[in-house]
Amino acid sequence: MEKADLNFSELPFSYQKTDFNIRYRFKDGQWDKGELTGSTDISLHIAAQCLHYGQLVFEGLKVFERPDGQAQTFRLEENAKRMAHSAEKLLMEPVPIELFKEAVHRVVDANRKYIPPYGSGASLYVRPYLIGSGIQLGVNPSSEYLFIVFVSPVGPYYKGSGLSCVHLLVEEEVDRAAPMGTGDIKAAGNYAAGLRASIGAKRKGFSECLYLDAKENKYIDESGTSNFIGITADNKYVTPKSPSILPSITNKSIIQIAKDDGITVERRPIAVDELESFVECGCVGTAAVISPVGSITWRDKKIVYGDGENAGPVTIKLYNKLSGIQSGKDEDPYGWTEIVPAG
Ligand code: PLP
Ligand code: COI
Repeated sequence: MEKADLNFSELPFSYQKTDFNIRYRFKDGQWDKGELTGSTDISLHIAAQCLHYGQLVFEGLKVFERPDGQAQTFRLEENAKRMAHSAEKLLMEPVPIELFKEAVHRVVDANRKYIPPYGSGASLYVRPYLIGSGIQLGVNPSSEYLFIVFVSPVGPYYKGSGLSCVHLLVEEEVDRAAPMGTGDIKAAGNYAAGLRASIGAKRKGFSECLYLDAKENKYIDESGTSNFIGITADNKYVTPKSPSILPSITNKSIIQIAKDDGITVERRPIAVDELESFVECGCVGTAAVISPVGSITWRDKKIVYGDGENAGPVTIKLYNKLSGIQSGKDEDPYGWTEIVPAG
């Protein structure tokens, strides 16, 4: 298969047009058969629910080209389940798991020439989303939905290689999500709510901000794009337990890998003043993979991890194991990867 004319090893994490996207409509109580299209536009009624009352949930996952040239997904079903859960929380019509998987398979199959070659360090990012497309003026859930999946070949989310350090700023003036709110689902509104803090941190020269819990302003929640992990001096993997963070599929996977490597894992509240005791920290997520944290600035204190520029040994080990499975370089003992069927 001839690849698209792209410099795959230099790709940023940004939108790159491909040949097809896929759309399914839910109307009169049922899903249609879906349409693969080359058009990048959608037509919505001006009163579509999602445009003013915000029924919009999404997902993000990656597809990799294996050494044998086949394409593989990573934990696709987990993303399907999470989107269904997100939809249910916002009283939206959930996309059936099998339909979600079929949509991803069809759109990836149609865009094979955009899947970055094995060894390029890049991947095909898959962005499924679900919107309430029915007409609403009163505040009510939509009765019609549009489920769209588009793809884009991407490189690392943060500048540099997959393992370059990010620098975080602890945010104390913006709450992203409340304990009984929507932080635990992938609702588009969460990302809008976090923009002010995230862009504020970037303007100050940081890679991202790190949110604290909204109730006590004391415990680490997560960043706007990934879960947070810390490694203690006695080699424990610690990650926040909080009702207002997204249950990261990457974090869940690394936890499994870490446990199988003999590392003790603790999921518990992490007070902000515990940050100083970690020897390594990381931001984990589909886009971020495991981005090592070089420093965290909290008020006027800058906590530096290692030399502040390079990932520590535990992070490197976990990164290599995870990305080895994702890319098909290493065997997948967990059954997390699946070949994308050729249509
Ligand atoms: N937290 C937030 C807010 C995210 O947007 C993401 C990305 O999806 C994650 C965590 C990581 O989740 P996952 O590993 O499932 O991509
Ligand atoms: C992902 O990691 O897939 C996400 O959805 C995070 C996004 C902000 C890029």
